[in-house]
Amino acid sequence: MNTQNIAAPIAVIILAAGKGTRMKSAIPKVLFPIAGVPMLHHTIQAAQSLNPAKIVVVTGFEAEMVETAVTKSFPNLPITFARQTEQKGTGHAVLQAEAALQGFTGTILIFSGDSTLPTRPDVLPALLSGHTGHDLTVLTADVKDPTGYGRVFHKNSQLVIVEQKDTNDAEQNVTTVNTSFYAAESTFLWPLLHQVRPNNAQQEYYLTDIVALGGAAGHRIGMVSVPMEREEIGMNNRAEIAQMEALWQTRKRQEMLLSGVTLLDPATVWFSPDTVIEPDTTIHQNVVFGPGVTIKTGATILPFCHLEGCTIHSGANIGPFARIRPTSEVGPNAKVGNFVELKNTTLGTKSSAGHLTYLGDATVGEHTNIGAGTITANYNHKTHAKHKTTIGDNASIGSNTVLIAPVTLGNLATTGANTTIRKSLPEDTLAFTAPDLITKPNYSKK
Ligand code: UD1
Ligand code: CA
Repeated sequence: MNTQNIAAPIAVIILAAGKGTRMKSAIPKVLFPIAGVPMLHHTIQAAQSLNPAKIVVVTGFEAEMVETAVTKSFPNLPITFARQTEQKGTGHAVLQAEAALQGFTGTILIFSGDSTLPTRPDVLPALLSGHTGHDLTVLTADVKDPTGYGRVFHKNSQLVIVEQKDTNDAEQNVTTVNTSFYAAESTFLWPLLHQVRPNNAQQEYYLTDIVALGGAAGHRIGMVSVPMEREEIGMNNRAEIAQMEALWQTRKRQEMLLSGVTLLDPATVWFSPDTVIEPDTTIHQNVVFGPGVTIKTGATILPFCHLEGCTIHSGANIGPFARIRPTSEVGPNAKVGNFVELKNTTLGTKSSAGHLTYLGDATVGEHTNIGAGTITANYNHKTHAKHKTTIGDNASIGSNTVLIAPVTLGNLATTGANTTIRKSLPEDTLAFTAPDLITKPNYSKK
């Protein structure tokens, strides 16, 4: 009865219908972020890496919120949603995917939606290779504290999973736990699921029961144990999410350090899954990389910077206390200093915005200096339109200049301190507003 071979087609079912009662939230648990990305999205991405014939996400609690979030982030993936209108347990949840997988023959992977475990590069290969020659395989973990998890052990020489609430005292000492990740041959999975009954403490249809049912039916049941931390198995409350975030960041920091990035105080630097930092860059303390950041070789990020959606080119210097927002680009050897915010702005090679400046929807050429306190007035609050500021090469913008966009300043343009620029300036032009300076001598005596 060997139906399993390595080349068998794969389908993935992700369980995401639960409320996550222990989160105490109106937002479904699977949408809570790890590294800024919903935990469900991590799992979908990992599932996609297997190139499956189909991914079925089972939704229920706030189904539309979950489905919209997934569709928005993965518009081109072959994802089907199966609704579980009443949350009657994990076994019942998987059964809701049966219709969507009608006609599919092969290996079905079942993932719990409240874990980012599949993103670990070793986990899915271990589960798949461990499944070879089996009809149903459970991914397990040996943990110090198994409290709350289903225990996996042999009873009368058959593998069983017993939920925490259904364990007796002796069974509670079992430290091998169910991760809620499985590989199952489609031919066996559906008939077994239809046999599951809610005869347990929670009166739910437990997916875990298919292990004992399969064993009793003479199927080959496998078990693969992978070393992991408790929080990797599943996150049920905000404390476990915080622990998982810490673990994720710790691993990412290590990966960055080993790839040639200097982190002066690794524990204070926060990454996103898509952060790209080339070797020989230095990241100082307390820096946050939001989504979509690329840092090129030789750039330096000084303390207390927040970056998202930007590219920082070689030799550029950012911070301390700089905020770079999407979609911005800081050119080679350019400088962005303290209390400077860039939004949708390009700063050219060797240009500098050193202090207390807002540049929004701006393009700044090369070798241009932006003086302290410069502001691009880019937003028309009546029309809600954003307007563009363009500044050429070798320009010098004086302190406290306000540039009322749309406006274009040519190469070598210079503005005096405290100037408001309301119209474009041709190349090599000096502009300043200079009201007379009024002086009143002996003022205190009057
Ligand atoms: C489950 C396992 C347990 C395992 C643990 C690992 C069962 C009965 N228990 O317990 O053995 O140790 O995971 O994390 O399977 N879900 C639905 N519909 C439902 C119920 C749950 O879609 O009706 C989804 C949830 O959204 C979640 C996943 O299934 O993503 C797991 O559900 P959860 O309630 O967290 O199960 P645990 O009690 O943690
Ligand atoms: Ca869980």
